[in-house]
Amino acid sequence: MSGYPISIQESIKKLEQTRSFRLTQEIPRLSFSEREQLLKECHPDYRPDSIKEVRVGPNKGERLTNKLADLLEAKSSLKPDKIDLQFIDHEVDILVIGGGGAGVSAALIAQERGASVLLATKLRIGDSNTIMAEGGIAAATQCNDTPERHFLDTIGGGRFKNKKDLVSALVHDAPLMVEWLKDLGCMFDTHDNGDFVVSFAGGQQRRRVHSCKDTSGLEFMRVIRDELYNRKIPVLEYCPAIELLLDEEGKSAGAILKNIETGEHLIVKAKAVILATGGIGRLHPCDFPTTNHYGATADGLVIAYRAGANLLHMDHIQFHPTGAMWPEQMLGQLITEACRGNGSHLVNINGDRFINELETRDTVSSAILREVKDRGNGIPTPTGKEGIWLDTPLINIRGDAGKLDRMFAGIVHRFNEYGIDVRKEPIMIFPTQHYQNGGVEIDSDARTSVAGIYAAGECSGGVQGINRLGGNSLLDIFVFGHRSANNACEYVKKVKVGKLSLRHITEYNRQLDEVGINNGLTSPILLPDYTREAVKIKSYN
Ligand code: FUM
Repeated sequence: MSGYPISIQESIKKLEQTRSFRLTQEIPRLSFSEREQLLKECHPDYRPDSIKEVRVGPNKGERLTNKLADLLEAKSSLKPDKIDLQFIDHEVDILVIGGGGAGVSAALIAQERGASVLLATKLRIGDSNTIMAEGGIAAATQCNDTPERHFLDTIGGGRFKNKKDLVSALVHDAPLMVEWLKDLGCMFDTHDNGDFVVSFAGGQQRRRVHSCKDTSGLEFMRVIRDELYNRKIPVLEYCPAIELLLDEEGKSAGAILKNIETGEHLIVKAKAVILATGGIGRLHPCDFPTTNHYGATADGLVIAYRAGANLLHMDHIQFHPTGAMWPEQMLGQLITEACRGNGSHLVNINGDRFINELETRDTVSSAILREVKDRGNGIPTPTGKEGIWLDTPLINIRGDAGKLDRMFAGIVHRFNEYGIDVRKEPIMIFPTQHYQNGGVEIDSDARTSVAGIYAAGECSGGVQGINRLGGNSLLDIFVFGHRSANNACEYVKKVKVGKLSLRHITEYNRQLDEVGINNGLTSPILLPDYTREAVKIKSYN
């Protein structure tokens, strides 16, 4: 018995009828100009209302994704004159803000290098997009692959907007990161002979995504979190940073945290700060659902911006092609790209494929939007939405009868809860917000434009260009987690922090007043607002 409503089952029969033909079908990749045209016509980034000009701060005059622009034009939630900066709660060399993969790896490396470290995080250690990441980590570890190929793929995927020195750092450090994780005890998928299992991701010319089933990020976090606890690195949970502190020379001097259980403010004096606050998905850019964890509300971008840090590429949001569309309890949840990397097809209501499944994410998402919106080839759900089929049974048909259970145990289990057996039936999908592409601009030492403030992982910008490739995010967090810590450790040896100041907040508020901006918001928002009045999440269709 199927877990899908009767009205949908008819279309599954069509999909089954076309399977043998589809297995023989080659769909060529789009040319550069075809891809650009598809993106301009169908990608949500190009809708006129998706971006808006920000009128204050380092990126003044640029157009950024509109929900972020609103938060950058909001007043600080902190009243600087109510904070007495004489009373310091914690004093350390390096404050790491964020408890996902970037933050935890940075804390581990900084402690190893002898710095005193405090890690503060909004929710619990591990509550982050890292644990939501399914597919795995990209690295050129195979003999048919090289970091140079990985470099070219990443730059092409990023539509040639990536900072090349960052990409070079990313791809050259990649095999070292896989070894680092393996040595710490992460249980990578391996063949019987011990070699890594590696999969394709869209836009990658070689199989280079190293997985731990379909819960790769969770596995990495399991291991590095244990390491953090075993080494007794001090941690403050439920304590997001709500503003950064500078000294009178404008250098990093720490942060103000807010204990969200008690409402108490904590002053942390630090010579260097590593921002690792993750993504933006819970702002629901373009009103899409998201794969992101509950705390992904762009806090790091907001506080870094007020402290004077430049943002890069925040006009380009990544929509992952395969978010769950049915059952609606799973709306927007990630269905890993590794399903396509291991042979699943995307299929419309007529049983036809319409795009090479291993095009880059921006392209595949746009093709799905075109198929549903412009061509009317979506499969209607009983609640009036429309989706596209991801033909998951093909994974076993093309591989072996146990492959879905072995490599996609999480997905098999989650759908099973709703009576859907993805080994026998396809998954209904639709694009979902997944990643922010840009962020706080860094250089290859993970330095931002403010002395002593470093950034790593999704909150940083430059390495991914304007479209990230699959597997490059679990990589980015560790490469720049390590680099930020190594470079911050050198920096703190030489620097002296002067008198703590929040003058930049007063000045920022003054600039808002001067331009006459009062949007009634305060930021960072810390948690999403899902009250009935506020909620506007809908799928595009
Ligand atoms: O599709 C995925 O498994 C996502 C991976 C990624 O964002 O790198």
